[in-house]
Amino acid sequence: MPTYNLKVNGESHTVDVAEDTPILWVLRDHLNLVGTKFGCGIGQCGACTIHLDGDATRGCLLQVSQVGDQSITTIEGLSEDGSHPVQQAWKEIDVPQCGYCQAGQMMTASSFLSKNPSPTNEEIRQAMHGNICRCASYNRIEKAVATAADKLS
Ligand code: FES
Ligand code: FES
Repeated sequence: MPTYNLKVNGESHTVDVAEDTPILWVLRDHLNLVGTKFGCGIGQCGACTIHLDGDATRGCLLQVSQVGDQSITTIEGLSEDGSHPVQQAWKEIDVPQCGYCQAGQMMTASSFLSKNPSPTNEEIRQAMHGNICRCASYNRIEKAVATAADKLS
């Protein structure tokens, strides 16, 4: 199997996997970064969201061979100590119910806010639209993104 050198959360890793392996499984099964979740496996739920050079990206659809030199950030790498404004806002608003979708929600929110730190409520709704929450915590998610935006401004 081919070897791939990956930059994940600021560290270099070498993995030996088939070229069409989704990065979601490289992260979870080879690098033990299990914060990134499997939901649908077809790009529809957002549970597997990571950052690829800062852009929110579906880990279930991204093959390891497509990553190249781009940097990957997972929920484990968002901050060392939970101090990222999105993580703080999520705690403050007490967003999670079962929690399963929340890493993906925070990765989408943090990428979005890095590009638009002062969004309107409608922009927040649009940005978070593709991340499904089976517990329907959508109101708290939107409130937390707005709270994180306040912390960033
Ligand atoms: S597991 Fe990737 S979008 Fe659902
Ligand atoms: S908190 Fe349960 S799926 Fe979102």
